[in-house]
Amino acid sequence: MIDSWPTSARLWDRAKSSLPGGVSTGMRASMRPHPLFFRGGRGPVLTDVDGNDYLDYVLGWGPVVLGHGHPGLTEAVTRRLPDGATFGAGHELEYLAAEAVLDALPGMERVLWSNTGSEADQIALRLARAATGRNRFVKMTGHYHGWSDAFLLGYRPDADGRLDRAGTRGQNPAALSDVSLAPWGDLDAVGTILRDPAQDVAALFVEPVLCNSGVIAPPDGYLAGLRSLCDETGTLLVFDEVITGFRVARGGAAELYGVQPDLIVLAKALAGGYPVAAVAGRAAVLDQSLHGVVHAGTYNGNPIVLAAVKATVEALSEPGIYPAFETNGRRLADGMRAALERYDVTAAVNQVGPVVQVLPGLDRCDTFTQFLAGDQQWYDVLTVEMLRRGLFTLPGGRWYLSTAHSQADVDTTVDAFADSVSATVGTNGLPRGTLQDVG
Ligand SMILES: Cc1ncc(COP(=O)(O)O)c(C=O)c1O
Repeated sequence: MIDSWPTSARLWDRAKSSLPGGVSTGMRASMRPHPLFFRGGRGPVLTDVDGNDYLDYVLGWGPVVLGHGHPGLTEAVTRRLPDGATFGAGHELEYLAAEAVLDALPGMERVLWSNTGSEADQIALRLARAATGRNRFVKMTGHYHGWSDAFLLGYRPDADGRLDRAGTRGQNPAALSDVSLAPWGDLDAVGTILRDPAQDVAALFVEPVLCNSGVIAPPDGYLAGLRSLCDETGTLLVFDEVITGFRVARGGAAELYGVQPDLIVLAKALAGGYPVAAVAGRAAVLDQSLHGVVHAGTYNGNPIVLAAVKATVEALSEPGIYPAFETNGRRLADGMRAALERYDVTAAVNQVGPVVQVLPGLDRCDTFTQFLAGDQQWYDVLTVEMLRRGLFTLPGGRWYLSTAHSQADVDTTVDAFADSVSATVGTNGLPRGTLQDVG
């Protein structure tokens, strides 16, 4: 059992004098009991600077889909390194990696390379505006499309519970006037907005599985319903597959649910941990970048990260990857449910392929409203108990599995999860029947 993290604490202390909060994104400051520092990892295991090993379910907040130090990925990147970091000009990997991506996304004809999901979402919106000649867009409450002024709206309520307010201090308040917010799962609400010409909607952005707020799968027929509404109203349907792409199926949620969007935004699992993102779509939409739609970026199409894309996509094209993700994801979720039941703790567990979400304080979670009623306090305590037992997990309850996690790893994890739950019961645990009703 791990009881303290003295070296991490010391390094974190030092980092605080040069980095705000000692971290590189504000979200990492929420790690409990405090941000840890790591030496490196192999496969599903990550080792911290105090020498503790953890089974890693953070996976770099999602990208490390092949596990740490995957030999094929490491080899592909290492092979590229001696030939220079970037050219700002054409090279073979640009189209080889694009062809590999397009092979997984039937109906998509072009790829635009970008560096982060936040950037790729912005070029997707610009392309949609240019293609339709309209200005505004629809996004769903609780969905996340990066931290830009344009998109950081309606993601989490403010202190007064309002969703229709700026998502951050320092945001241009005018950004709010370009967006209409809709609730996930309600086709009529979206239909009303899209059919109103005064709304001037160029694009409908969705996370096709609501991964950022509960890992909520789309209700039956919902994505197909959105597709029909977009067809009827001439709106572009954009699947933000930054989390689901190459993860819930090789062809992402579009393949899993059999619905073809107009644009797909990819990042995270696309390159196994290297910083790259992409927008895929039809030639008519993406080729606008030759005709007056500016898509710039010094590092776009960087050869090192594109070597990573090609190697990752090839590794994810091996037979059996996605069935194993589903089997292990289900095994983890079922094991967690059994442990929660055993200790009489109310918490729902959602799972789509290798993405699992623990939802403390909830009997079920099918809506963003329900998600917001969860009990984060207890989960914070659980997170530390799990860390002490060798499980590195995200704050907030989402878990990612990699191809390197074996069934035996999952079983070890379920045992450690159960012990951790047991350690919280009677102190900060949530006995059944004491929870607030959720809408
Ligand atoms: C669905 C979704 N879209 C966009 C983004 C932004 O991606 P990035 O952090 O690479 O800017 C994220 C990040 O988590 C995401 O989950």
